[in-house]
Amino acid sequence: MQVSNQAAGDSGGMPHWSSRFAFIMAAVGSAVGLGNIWKFPYMAGTGGGGAFVLMYLGIVLLFGVPILIAELMLGRMAQRAPAAALAHLGRTHGGTTAWGWIGGMGVIAALLILSFYSVVAGWAVAYIPEMLSGELANANAERTAEVFGALLANPEQLLVWHSIFMVATVAIVAGGVTKGIEAFVTWMMPALFIMLLFLVGYAMVEGEFLRGVAYLFRPDFSAITVDVVIAAAGQAFFSLSIGLGTMLAYGSYLPRDVSIPKTAVTVALADTSVALLAGCAIFPIVFASGLNPGEGPGLVFVTLTVAFGSMPFGMIVGAVFFLLLAVAAITSSISLLEPIVATLKERSGLSRPLLCVLIGLVAWVMGLATVWSFNDWSDVKVLGDRTPFDTIDYVTSSIMLPLGGALMAVFTGWVLSSETLRRELGFDSEALFGFWRFLIRFVAPVGVAAVAIQKILG
Ligand code: TRP
Repeated sequence: MQVSNQAAGDSGGMPHWSSRFAFIMAAVGSAVGLGNIWKFPYMAGTGGGGAFVLMYLGIVLLFGVPILIAELMLGRMAQRAPAAALAHLGRTHGGTTAWGWIGGMGVIAALLILSFYSVVAGWAVAYIPEMLSGELANANAERTAEVFGALLANPEQLLVWHSIFMVATVAIVAGGVTKGIEAFVTWMMPALFIMLLFLVGYAMVEGEFLRGVAYLFRPDFSAITVDVVIAAAGQAFFSLSIGLGTMLAYGSYLPRDVSIPKTAVTVALADTSVALLAGCAIFPIVFASGLNPGEGPGLVFVTLTVAFGSMPFGMIVGAVFFLLLAVAAITSSISLLEPIVATLKERSGLSRPLLCVLIGLVAWVMGLATVWSFNDWSDVKVLGDRTPFDTIDYVTSSIMLPLGGALMAVFTGWVLSSETLRRELGFDSEALFGFWRFLIRFVAPVGVAAVAIQKILG
């Protein structure tokens, strides 16, 4: 990919690849985060393994990539923040600014996700000194579960790490995303990838690798229920950062000569392979140490620390891993804050730093609901038997993101003309373009509506 880009840049003065590469890093940085390493394995575990993973992959392909393409394109076309972008395109192409409301819903979803994201990222930050302390050297699964449980039981401590992470997110976005973070991410993301490969290697040698991989990839079709489909869809949208305007905002910074379909496929491939690698590292250790795959949100913290505990220099390796995880999380959390800031900046006229602080403060306070979900409020049940954290997670991932994505698909497929789309996207072949448009016009909206109806009737 870089070779062809470099070749493309040879004719001009400025090499083209630097901007495309920077963009891909930002987009991959947004997509790859806690969703891949923390959430995907535990969702797969509670969703029954292979059935969930199969649905997940199908949804990424048929819904995720097409909507990612549409979202990036909307941003690049409009050159505006999400809500204004949709209102503008609605007015110029379809006569109504009402589409801007999708962006409004996106702002609320982003705020809700950011609130719990920061708390969970705080766990990763907390595990850096935890590893360095050496307390978990040679610890078994029981012991690592105990240590994790002790962290969750302590709201003051969770609050400290949550605060640190939120301040860091605010500081970066306040300073403008591009300069600092890009250079940083360019090094950190490949490092995380290599680290995951290393952990997969460890799981191969020390874990019950075949059993773990079979669990992850052997689908039990009878286990596929509406709830598994909804969970897999929510996870696919969450992991690809689509449905709320993050990719729309990032697309608005995208140079015109970059191929959006190719970029979207690259981002989705990177995102999916990191999730699958995390699964291949975690499940063999789950089975080898007699843990329960349905363990829930603590899964990666409990399993990988068992692995770190038993390897030479494991505490240092572990500290580096959690540092990389925290970095992956921050390149995602800034992409949650960015669309909110961009949207409100257009409406309020307040300065970027001030807005960052105000929004960060609101998200921080909302994060208290997640902090307390694991201790003081663990008996509070909101939707069904969900804790406040589970409720926020469910409402955003499983409802708001698919809804936002489907609405953007409807707008793209039914309001924008096929000439406009063809010109903006420059697909390699007409057949591919036709297939993409079919997915956007029919499959995405009908699929999301069908699942919603099933759920409501069921
Ligand atoms: N994709 C990120 C992850 O997997 C989280 C994230 C960042 C996100 N921006 C988003 C999720 C926008 C939904 C929408 O950790």
